[in-house]
Amino acid sequence: MLTLLLASRNAGKLREFAELLPGFTLVPWPAAAPELPETGAFFQDNALQKAEGARAWWQAHGTEPVDAVLADDSGLCVDALWGGPGVLSARFAQDLASYTDRNRRLLDMLPEGADRTARFVCVLACVPLPGRLPGEPFTVSGAVEGTLAFEHRGSQGFGYDPIFLPDGYDQTFGELSSEIKHTLSHRARACTALLQKLHR
Ligand code: IMP
Repeated sequence: MLTLLLASRNAGKLREFAELLPGFTLVPWPAAAPELPETGAFFQDNALQKAEGARAWWQAHGTEPVDAVLADDSGLCVDALWGGPGVLSARFAQDLASYTDRNRRLLDMLPEGADRTARFVCVLACVPLPGRLPGEPFTVSGAVEGTLAFEHRGSQGFGYDPIFLPDGYDQTFGELSSEIKHTLSHRARACTALLQKLHR
């Protein structure tokens, strides 16, 4: 069984990885560890930056052996907002405390009659630890197409889930169960690609 260091403190992501990667031992990024910079313009750059940063820190300070570092960079890309908030999804409307308010602000940015198409995107970067897992760092990705709801609906999931209607469903990710989200989400699709690479 491989042990993966998850380079994230996002509780929503960590819960999903525990459900999506049941065959792995997952080590969360420690509270005492530094924030990992993400300064790139693309999900892929940020995922690799976080994974490489976490590997360097873990090699100097890690408390247990891990086989690889896994970093997730993800976000909601809204066509009417030229793909925003996109890589800035975690930083959007940070002056507001709750995602209910942040989601309301995002919806209010869309003019009446605007195209409401959007997608969640997830890029996973996997960086093997030398001597533990052979191979070079790689990335995999997944996306799910949908539209923005007209209001925040449901309390499942996290982040922008309550305003995202995946194609083929009348309920938001905030209303759908995690079991259903995991059959079609961006993160689930990226995890499927990750498993294929790791088991090849
Ligand atoms: P980052 O990858 O740490 O830059 O942050 C990703 C941000 O995108 C999260 O903080 C959420 O706001 C949003 N996000 C990513 N994936 C999801 C998801 O599955 N549901 C809802 N929001 C998400």
